[in-house]
Amino acid sequence: MINLLGSRRVRRLLFFIAATVTLFYLMTIVFPEKKYEISPLVFSGIPPTRFVAPGRRKNLKLENVKGFFLQDLAETMEDHFNVFQTRDFGLIPQDYSIDITNKLPPNATQWDHFQAEILRLNQEKLTTMLGVLGYKVLYLFRPSESWHHTGESFYGKESWECLWTRQDGNGTAQWIDAELTPTGIDGAKYLHKSWNKHLGSTNLAMPELFLSSPLSRAADTLIHTFNLTFRNPRPPSPIFVEYLRESFGVDTHNSRRSYTTLKKKYPLFEFEEEFSEFDPLWTSYRDETDESVLHRAKIFLENLFLRRNEIFIAIATHESIIKAILEAVGHRPFPVPIGHMIPVVIKGSWFKSWDPRTEVEKYKMFYKRNRNCTELDPVTDPDAEPEVDMDEFD
Ligand SMILES: *[C@@H]1O[C@H](CO)[C@@H](O)[C@H](O)[C@H]1NC(C)=O
Ligand SMILES: *[C@@H]1O[C@H](CO)[C@@H](O)[C@H](O)[C@H]1NC(C)=O
Ligand SMILES: *[C@@H]1O[C@H](CO)[C@@H](O)[C@H](O)[C@H]1NC(C)=O
Ligand SMILES: *[C@@H]1O[C@H](CO)[C@@H](O)[C@H](O)[C@H]1NC(C)=O
Repeated sequence: MINLLGSRRVRRLLFFIAATVTLFYLMTIVFPEKKYEISPLVFSGIPPTRFVAPGRRKNLKLENVKGFFLQDLAETMEDHFNVFQTRDFGLIPQDYSIDITNKLPPNATQWDHFQAEILRLNQEKLTTMLGVLGYKVLYLFRPSESWHHTGESFYGKESWECLWTRQDGNGTAQWIDAELTPTGIDGAKYLHKSWNKHLGSTNLAMPELFLSSPLSRAADTLIHTFNLTFRNPRPPSPIFVEYLRESFGVDTHNSRRSYTTLKKKYPLFEFEEEFSEFDPLWTSYRDETDESVLHRAKIFLENLFLRRNEIFIAIATHESIIKAILEAVGHRPFPVPIGHMIPVVIKGSWFKSWDPRTEVEKYKMFYKRNRNCTELDPVTDPDAEPEVDMDEFD
């Protein structure tokens, strides 16, 4: 019989294995595995989808949960729909489930029921098998009337789009990063009253998180709507998010101020990480495409779901981003007029996918060149040279 252990070859092999294991063990002590830190203050960077995904090759699906608000039903007439003159901003009166009805006092409002139902749905997170990441309620605000709106009605559409919108102002009105007009400020204060009237006595009155486009008209709308001040206890700081801004290009009212200026102008606000000093996106000579806006909206939403735990979130943003967010989550198109708001319930869940990259990881910024301006086209204006060549981003 051959003594296996006695064989020199086998002994050498065993020694080799033991040495490798020991070495590997020592290495893990000396160089501990770096944990991927998920910053809660990134909204416009690459979402950590692949790091957070449970298991391999999973992508994130974000979808509108229909049936909570009139706005998400296909049969709701969108013409003349006024969210502030609609009962409960469109929240549909209903009993969600027996559990909730039994738990709440008989005088609980529909908003109390809504909140309880959203919290109940979020419990699905605990059942790993379902792959649910969570549910969030977004209140998307569009800024009230600002100076560029008056410019367009003053000069007429063509003259505005091809010439005046590219100017900083006309001596009387300033359009660059346009501010709210006095009418706009009144509109935002009306939002405040209206919000309190609807939600005054419920826990929903103060959203848990405030996010804003870095354009002044959005920040001011948010401040007035929620009367955000430094009072004690102060609400959580609103955060400036680069990708919540209006589609960029050509119109001066969609260019933003520098970080330093914004910091001085809005001391109450925080900034997302890596918010650059100067506007990195706006150019004086070409417009962003709708596809690009849609991609930005998706990047923002994924970051929001993967990095933040808050459920009820107020967001001051703009027409094209609201449209893109609705499209990204499969909400029906629903126009949101100036100074209005739309509530949206979104469910996030994981799904299996063999695509090695998420859709968002394939994002590129897209621009289009043409605005079909003939006579008044200042693209040929030598002063309209780009400072940054955005081809670098392609
Ligand atoms: C509901 O009734 C309770 C007492 O039964 C009271 O404390 C509470 O303020 C009432 N809530 C509303 C919204 O009327
Ligand atoms: C400048 O534009 C505003 C509209 O934004 C208009 O009310 C004003 O009269 C214009 N000023 C001049 C000097 O044309
Ligand atoms: C806004 O908040 C301030 C400070 O707490 C308060 O004095 C003021 O009355 C509030 N304004 C409105 C319109 O609620
Ligand atoms: C510009 O004109 C072309 C051809 O007439 C048309 O296909 C295109 O949709 C127009 N673009 C815009 C932005 O109006």
